[in-house]
Amino acid sequence: MQVIEGQVAQMLHEEHVAVLELLNRLTAVLNRHGPGMPPDMQDPAIGRLLSQFAGAIETEIKTHFEFEEMTLFPLLDANGEGEMRAMYIEDHRAIVPLGEKAAAMARASSTTGFDAQTWAAFHPVAAEFADRLTRHAEAEEAALVPLLGELLDPEEDRQHAEAYEAMR
Ligand SMILES: [Fe+2]
Ligand SMILES: [Fe+2]
Repeated sequence: MQVIEGQVAQMLHEEHVAVLELLNRLTAVLNRHGPGMPPDMQDPAIGRLLSQFAGAIETEIKTHFEFEEMTLFPLLDANGEGEMRAMYIEDHRAIVPLGEKAAAMARASSTTGFDAQTWAAFHPVAAEFADRLTRHAEAEEAALVPLLGELLDPEEDRQHAEAYEAMR
C-alpha cells in the first residue's frame, strides 16, 4: 500500500495520479496513430486531449517541478538522499524541453489540425515526453512521496503545503 503522510505528500500524489492519467490517454492516442497516421482532428476528444496536454505542460507540470526543486529536493540532500535528488533533477532537465517542444507543436496544430508532416514531427517528441514523465512520476510515487512523512515535521508540512497552494 502506498504511504501518504501529510498534506504535501497528498498534493504531490494527486498531481502524479492526474498527470499519469493524462499521459496514459496521450500514449493511447500515439499508439493508435503512429507517426505516419495523423488522427482525425474533427474528433473532439483528440482536440481536447491535445489542448489539455499543452495546458498541463505550460502550467501544472512546471509549477510542480519548481516546487519540488525549490522546496523538497534540498531536503533530500540534507537527508543523505543526494543521489535521488540528482536523478530527479536530471529527469526534470530532460522532460521540460521535450514538454515545451511538444506543447508548442500541439498548440500550433490546435486550430488547423495535424497534417502528415506535423504529426510525424510531433509523434516522437510527445512519445518520449510521455515515456520519461511517466517513469519519473512513478519513481517519485515509489520513493519521494513515501519519504515526505519523514522529511517534514507537521509544521513544515503545513507551511510548505500553504506555499505550494499559493504557487498553483
Ligand atoms: Fe519531479
Ligand atoms: Fe513530482
